[in-house]
Amino acid sequence: MTIETLKSLSKSIQTQSLQALAARGSRPVLSGAGWKADSSRQYLTPEISDTLLAHAEAINLQGAIDRLFNAEIVNPSENRPALHWALRMVPDGDLTASEHETTVKALAKAESLLRAGDFSAIVHIGIGGSDFGPRLYADAFADRQVEGLELRFCANVDPLDLDLALRGLSPANTLIIGISKSFGTEETLYNLGRARKWLESALGAEKASEHLLLVTANPERATTWLDGTPATTLDMPISVGGRYSIWSAASVAVMTAFGPDTFKAFLAGAAEMDTHVKSAPVAENLAAQLALLDFWNTSFMGFGSRAVLAYSRRLRMLPTYLQQLEMESNGKSVGPDGDDAPLSTAPLLWGGEGSVGQHSYHQWLHQGTHIVPAEFILSPGSHSDADGVEALTAHALAQAEVMANGRSLEDVKAEEPDLPEHIARQKVHPGGRPSTFLSTHELTPDRLGALIALFEHRTYLAGVLWEINSFDQWGVERGKTMATRLKPVLRGEGQADDAATARLIEQIS
Ligand code: F6P
Repeated sequence: MTIETLKSLSKSIQTQSLQALAARGSRPVLSGAGWKADSSRQYLTPEISDTLLAHAEAINLQGAIDRLFNAEIVNPSENRPALHWALRMVPDGDLTASEHETTVKALAKAESLLRAGDFSAIVHIGIGGSDFGPRLYADAFADRQVEGLELRFCANVDPLDLDLALRGLSPANTLIIGISKSFGTEETLYNLGRARKWLESALGAEKASEHLLLVTANPERATTWLDGTPATTLDMPISVGGRYSIWSAASVAVMTAFGPDTFKAFLAGAAEMDTHVKSAPVAENLAAQLALLDFWNTSFMGFGSRAVLAYSRRLRMLPTYLQQLEMESNGKSVGPDGDDAPLSTAPLLWGGEGSVGQHSYHQWLHQGTHIVPAEFILSPGSHSDADGVEALTAHALAQAEVMANGRSLEDVKAEEPDLPEHIARQKVHPGGRPSTFLSTHELTPDRLGALIALFEHRTYLAGVLWEINSFDQWGVERGKTMATRLKPVLRGEGQADDAATARLIEQIS
C-alpha cells in the first residue's frame, strides 16, 4: 500500500522545483552524536516523508534496529547476529563481552608494541574490509601519527604493491601485520607469504616470527599457514563482517601508529552514534532517515548513483571505504528467502574529495544528462588558517546551491548580455540536482567513529527496506573461483572454456 503511494508521489514530485521545495524548509535538520543532516534539498515533501515513515512502520524498521542491538540473527545466510557495534559499546552483561574483549586485547597489544619500541615500521597487509578501514583512519589522522613509526599498507595481489610497501625498510625493525578474517583470501596470503620470506631471509625463521602478527577469525588456518612457527595472533570475532571490522583487532596497526587513546576516542564516538540510533524514534533517527532517503531516491526517484563529496582532506578516502560498506552489503537483487528484491536496490556509490573533484567530475554533476544526488560532508574545523577553511566551506555551499537551483538562460543573458546565443546556452545549468549536507564542526577521531557507525546503521536499515541481507556477499565468490580455474590456462595448461577469455589470453601472452 505505502509502496504504491510512494510510486505515485514520485511521479508528481519530478515536475516540482527543488529550489521551491527547499525554500519551504519543511525538512527538519536531524542531529546525533555531533553530526547534523540537512536534506532540505531533496525531492521530499511532508507527505512523502510521512509515507516513508508509514512504510518504515509497516515493515517494522524499529524492530530491525532492536534485533541488531539484541544480538539476534540478522545475517540469516550465515545464521549469525552482526556484532560490530559490540566492539565499541561497553558490554551490557555477557551477551557480547567476548567480542568486545577482542578489541580490548588489540588495544593492549598496541600499547605494549609502543612501550617496547622494537619497530620503526609497520606494514599492514590485508584487503577489502581488512584494509579500507585502517587505511581511511590512517589517512584521516596522518598529522597525528606517533613520531618515528612508519605505517604502510599493502592490499593488491599485483606484486608491485608489496615491493613498494617494503621498499627501503629494514626487516630488523619492521613488523608485518597480516589481517584476514577468513585467513583464506588469496591476495592477502600471497602478500603475507612474500613478506614472511623477506623477513626470514634476513632474520632466520625463528627471529622472523617475532616480526609477524596475524589477525584472524580462523586461527586454525593461520596455524596451518604458520607451519609450526610461533607467531602472535589476535582474534577477530566471527560475527563481525569484514566491511564492519574497523572496530576490531583488524585495526591493530593504526591503534599502534596513532596510539590506543586516539582509537578509544574513535570507538567512543561510534558508541555515541549507536546510542542515538538505538534510542531515537525513527522520525528523528539519523540512520533510519538516511536509509529511507536512500530507499526513496533509488527505488522511487530512480537515481542510480549517489556521489559522496567529502569537503574534508581527512575524509578523502571515505568514498572508497563506503563503496565496500554499502555496495558489498546492499548490491544484491535476491532476498534471504530466495525471492527477488521487490524494488531496485543500492545505487552506485562514488565520489571524492572536495574541492579537488570540482576540477574533475563536477562538470558532469552540474551539466551532464544524469541526475545524481550528492552528499556533501563538511567538517570545517578549527584550522589556524581561516582563509582555507572559509574557501572550502564556500565551495561546498556554492556547489550544492548551483546543483539544486541551476542557472537559467535569462540569468546568463542578464549577467553576460554580450554573449552569443550558442555560448549563452552552454552556460545554462539545469539544476534540480538534490543534495544532503552531513556536517560536524571538526573531524576528530570520535566524530569519525560516529560517522562510520552512522553509515553502518544506515546501510543495514536500507538493506532491511530493500528486503535483502546486508551481511553476506555471495557475489564476490564466483570471480575468485573463476580466477583459480584460469591460472593454469595462463601457464599454458589447458584451454579457457569461454571464447572471449581464450582470445584475451592469446592477446596478453
Ligand atoms: O571481497 C570479499 C571479502 O570477503 C570481503 O568481504 C572482505 O572484507 C575481504 O574479502 C577480505 O576478507 P578476509 O578478511 O577474510 O581476508
